[in-house]
Amino acid sequence: MNAPIITRAHGRVNLIGEHTDYNGGWVLPTTIPQFTQVTLTPNQSQTVRIQSSSDPKKKEERSFSYTLGQEKKAGSWIDYLQGITAILTLEKIPLSGFDLRIESTVPEGSGLSSSAALEMSFLKALKLAFDLKFTEAELARLGQRTENEFVGARVGIMDQMACALASSGEALFLDTKTLKFQRIPLPLEHMDLLVINSGISHRNVGGGYNERRAQCEEACRLLDIPELRSLNAQELSRLDSLPDVLKRRARHVVTENDRVFNTVKAIQSEDITTMGRLFVESHQSMRDDYEVSLPEIDQLVELCLKQEGVFGARLTGGGFGGSIVAITKKGKSLQVAAEVLPEYARLTGQKATVLV
Ligand code: GLA
Repeated sequence: MNAPIITRAHGRVNLIGEHTDYNGGWVLPTTIPQFTQVTLTPNQSQTVRIQSSSDPKKKEERSFSYTLGQEKKAGSWIDYLQGITAILTLEKIPLSGFDLRIESTVPEGSGLSSSAALEMSFLKALKLAFDLKFTEAELARLGQRTENEFVGARVGIMDQMACALASSGEALFLDTKTLKFQRIPLPLEHMDLLVINSGISHRNVGGGYNERRAQCEEACRLLDIPELRSLNAQELSRLDSLPDVLKRRARHVVTENDRVFNTVKAIQSEDITTMGRLFVESHQSMRDDYEVSLPEIDQLVELCLKQEGVFGARLTGGGFGGSIVAITKKGKSLQVAAEVLPEYARLTGQKATVLV
């Protein structure tokens, strides 16, 4: 009766469509091989006992326990779990205690959704253990609410939807307003995806991420539109009335949505050159208009673009650190990484790692 339940969720890499999700826009993530696995065993109490081997360096955080209904913010990854049980309790969903073992290969702070992978693997286990009647999209919403209401990161829905629904070899073309999606097979017989972690840790809580979101909301208020999704790339002149910073933030979002549609078309016609060009434009827009890149990340992207056989490269995820994603000729990615990594270390003093 108390047999352990084992569930998994993979991390994600967003191919394009950055900072569009909390603006009601479109995104295009796919999964990475790295995943989080949880083993949940009911323990006939009201206590949750967690053991994690996700980050062996942070020994003090490796085990943690709390009583259901008495979740308190700890300021660490434990909050993603506490937030979920707190919200389910708030929703009057009956839970009882359990032991939880977590193993994860998704590096924290890499911008590849280690938190959403943890949330979604945990929610899938809770769904099985307590016979919860939630769809994947509803689980994703619970993960997002946890971040918004308990953790304090005003993230959109992309990461949770990707970790719940994306699969390898295809991109999830997701409308973040309606949550309708289409699976777009990637032309991986003609190209490689290369994902490199810059070694600079990224976080969504506080700081720049929430500020960017507030700026988008302010732009909408001034433009008298419900959300930036309502504007298309032919209406950019409407942004001229905005103060400079808000204009650039909004321009990023509007043009990025357009790049998502164009990338989908390019993928479908196997036009890898155009995909690469759109990656480069997306990076420039994140760097100059949205200002979520860092000099080290720009350096990493530039070094990739200098290599033969690279079609495009860009910062992926929330920014201020994290990873880049590049498209290379088929079979070329490891050679590119072997050229780029030592040069990056020499120029920036940072140690990057290849993840995909
Ligand atoms: C983080 C958030 C997502 C999304 C991206 C940027 O990963 O969790 O909701 O906003 O940043 O595209």
